[in-house]
Amino acid sequence: MTELTPRLKLVYDMLGEGDLVVDVGCDHAYLPIKLVSDGKYRRAIASDIVEGPLAAAAKNIREALPEGAITTCLSDGLEKVAVEDGFSLAVCGMGGDAVASVLSSEKAKRARLAVLQPMTKEEHLRCHLWENGFEITSERAVSEGEKIYAAMAVVYTGKNTPYEEAELYLGKREARAASPDMARRLELFHGRHAAIRNSIARSGGDASFDDMLVRAAEREILDIREKLR
Ligand SMILES: C[S@@+](CC[C@H](N)C(=O)[O-])C[C@H]1O[C@@H](n2cnc3c(N)ncnc32)[C@H](O)[C@@H]1O
Repeated sequence: MTELTPRLKLVYDMLGEGDLVVDVGCDHAYLPIKLVSDGKYRRAIASDIVEGPLAAAAKNIREALPEGAITTCLSDGLEKVAVEDGFSLAVCGMGGDAVASVLSSEKAKRARLAVLQPMTKEEHLRCHLWENGFEITSERAVSEGEKIYAAMAVVYTGKNTPYEEAELYLGKREARAASPDMARRLELFHGRHAAIRNSIARSGGDASFDDMLVRAAEREILDIREKLR
């Protein structure tokens, strides 16, 4: 089978091993096929809200694995998915709000581990997680071509996590894996918000929000550079 892209390989690595993995928004099901083919997971459920991708997933699964190893499920999030206690959950390649909506199902609380890879609005997702009893245990980044993607490992503890506003955007220092890709990601964030801050300030507006983000990013960049030395 085709190799996973660096982004999906990061999610693959963070999922580790287990019995059942559920990939919500599986599209072509490359991730669960690789996890089960490699023996990392015994079984998988590949689900998607749209029939087209799910049909493509079913074809790929038939070609790659014996019948029954991976089942497909047409479902909005976890709604129709028959989960089991201690399953692993992957939700990748969607906007942060869509990922948060999948995690708002009661079924998500039964996961041993969820690996989430939001494409946008990470701050909304972190806010949802920290205010709804989920802990983000690690965050990792990887570059793929010109882009840098990040994924987070999450567990349900039932306890909310206190946070500073900048941490919604940057994540928590203690969860962040230090790597050159993560440093680059922080630098890009810093550059984007410094440009916004400067532009607002030039036009006489209130740049305090972006200034706060820039200063927080500077502290995190210093920390990660120190760790990478
Ligand atoms: C951009 S693709 C990402 C595919 C794959 N997970 C990846 O990361 O490469 C997003 C997929 O999520 C599906 N999707 C979006 N919202 C969904 C939802 N609420 N429940 C299930 N699938 C959803 C879309 O139909 C699409 O196939």
